[in-house]
Amino acid sequence: MMNSAFSAVELAPSDPILGLTELFKSDNNPNKVNLGVGVYYDDNGNVPLLSCVRLAESKIVAKHRARSYQPIEGNTQYNKLVQTLLFGSDSELLNTNRIITAQTLGGTGALKVGADFLRQIVGCSDVWISDPSWANHQGIFSNAGLKVNVYPYYDPNTRGIAFDRMVEQLKALPQQAIVLLHACCHNPTGVDLTADQWQIVTDIVVDRGLIPFLDIAYQGFGSSLDEDGAVVRLFTEKCQNLVISNSFSKSFSLYGERIGGLSIMSGTAGEAKRVQSQLKRLIRTNYSSPPIHSGALVETVLADSELKAQWVNELTGMRERIKKMRLDLSTNIAKLCPGADFSFITQQKGMFSYSGLTKEQVIKLREEHSVYAVESGRICVAALNSQNVEFVSDAISKVIL
Ligand code: LMR
Repeated sequence: MMNSAFSAVELAPSDPILGLTELFKSDNNPNKVNLGVGVYYDDNGNVPLLSCVRLAESKIVAKHRARSYQPIEGNTQYNKLVQTLLFGSDSELLNTNRIITAQTLGGTGALKVGADFLRQIVGCSDVWISDPSWANHQGIFSNAGLKVNVYPYYDPNTRGIAFDRMVEQLKALPQQAIVLLHACCHNPTGVDLTADQWQIVTDIVVDRGLIPFLDIAYQGFGSSLDEDGAVVRLFTEKCQNLVISNSFSKSFSLYGERIGGLSIMSGTAGEAKRVQSQLKRLIRTNYSSPPIHSGALVETVLADSELKAQWVNELTGMRERIKKMRLDLSTNIAKLCPGADFSFITQQKGMFSYSGLTKEQVIKLREEHSVYAVESGRICVAALNSQNVEFVSDAISKVIL
């Protein structure tokens, strides 16, 4: 027998986030809690099927539509609705045809197609991501052939932003450097820039001729859909170009449907047309075109004022429940460990909290208490509920004592 062609393939390390879910599933402890992956669970510990999605699905199924291919850039109506959500329904900009949107396979798909576009078509060589950033940013951009660098972001001493150092780094970047920024609910820290800090950052982006790439995967989980989208609108006011990846995994609880969008703002309508033609080529040679169902679900909700209002309501409910869990966790820990101050958890936004737990403490939490967190100390607060929050508070208190 000849040697297998794959005999030299090495075992890859498991994914720092999704790999934890695999470990979690094999844990037999009935009290186990997965605070690893960024998934919202309801108070009964289930991933919700939103009522607006359920109703939209019934409408879609009742039509018994045939399933031909979608256009390469996806569902046209969906793409328009994504723009309305990101840029505002009354946005003048949308009438200029400078922005094009493509339906993508989740926010991750948008990041990849956007990265391919910037590397292969625009000729960018480097991207700067925050330190720290979502664990997958590094891999996505380097797989696209970009050199991935970091700018200072989080200061563990203050549990805030290392803003002076961030500004210093951004000011030193070369023209056409891509800067990846989290538009709201920073993943993994939960710490966002203030409105004044965003003004300073956008000014630097303009002065230095940088290419802003906004990742917005948690719109609606910070303050509101509108407030969380303010950063997107700020960039469109000041900059000539903008790349945005957005995701509906969390806000519609449609994780496995892989539904997101890539929007690119060009200098003119003509330029946008050329950009779109290139995006289509990239998508076609990658996965050809996106699936129908996920785009139809989001389209059906966003295009119907009643379903949309219901969605906003359900999203508000998720956001408020997370806030309550932040408060409960911090109050419990204050009681259990009078010396430890976890009140910062209530200030952070979105699904995540950078807990300050060390890698050793995270491992202890997992091995001794079956509470799973990312090794960086990131915990998904959206996985806490009224039944497990005491157990988790107790476990955290035991590992930090
Ligand atoms: C996360 O950060 O946990 C989520 O965005 C899920 C993922 O794909 O990593």
